[in-house]
Amino acid sequence: LFARECTFMRGAVALSGLPDATQPEVAFAGRSNVGKSSLINALTGRKGLARASNTPGRTQELNFFDLGGRLVLVDMPGYGFASAPKGMVEKWTRLVNGFLKGRPVLRRAIVLVDARHGLKDSDRDMMTMLDKAAVVYQLVLTKADKIKPAELDEVRDRTLAEIAKRVAAHPTLIATSSETGLGIAELRAELASLA
Ligand code: GTP
Ligand code: MG
Repeated sequence: LFARECTFMRGAVALSGLPDATQPEVAFAGRSNVGKSSLINALTGRKGLARASNTPGRTQELNFFDLGGRLVLVDMPGYGFASAPKGMVEKWTRLVNGFLKGRPVLRRAIVLVDARHGLKDSDRDMMTMLDKAAVVYQLVLTKADKIKPAELDEVRDRTLAEIAKRVAAHPTLIATSSETGLGIAELRAELASLA
């Protein structure tokens, strides 16, 4: 699947701007700056495809990427950034919740969690939103290159113990690094099974 070409379809700032739902989709969720756009670039092997940035909250829209006419990857705007004004949070909730609830082609959400920090309350809120929208989700640790192997084992165990309590959560956890390529092949294989 990932040998195919991946192209940018469109960005949607409102539900009225969503592309037609004609292909299976996988959405990438996570706190601002967790590495969603970087992971999409690493998966597709195209560095500048999804815009990665040091500024939290850079991606404010839903960005749709077509993977060879077989699967659509959706880069979602990040959450949990402390200085976000209330109006922005409301807009985010309307857009993301509306998308998750009204998208029958959405096969799975990938919830990215920074391996250095583990699950935060904003991630738990995201998982609850996914539970309520009846979207199956899978957690993925990002930036694994930034911590020691023993620390990675520890955060992995803690996170797995917590997701075991949630019914809609996929029971696996892949640790990734967009820098070193760790876990990328494994995640590609998982996504290919959804196309
Ligand atoms: P928003 O769009 O703001 O929600 O952020 P995002 O989740 O798309 O994060 P983005 O991919 O823009 O990455 C944020 C920062 O983290 C960038 O400076 C990236 O270079 C860096 N980064 C992302 N993934 C990794 C990784 O696996 N390892 C390391 N070391 N840095 C990473
Ligand atoms: Mg982004």
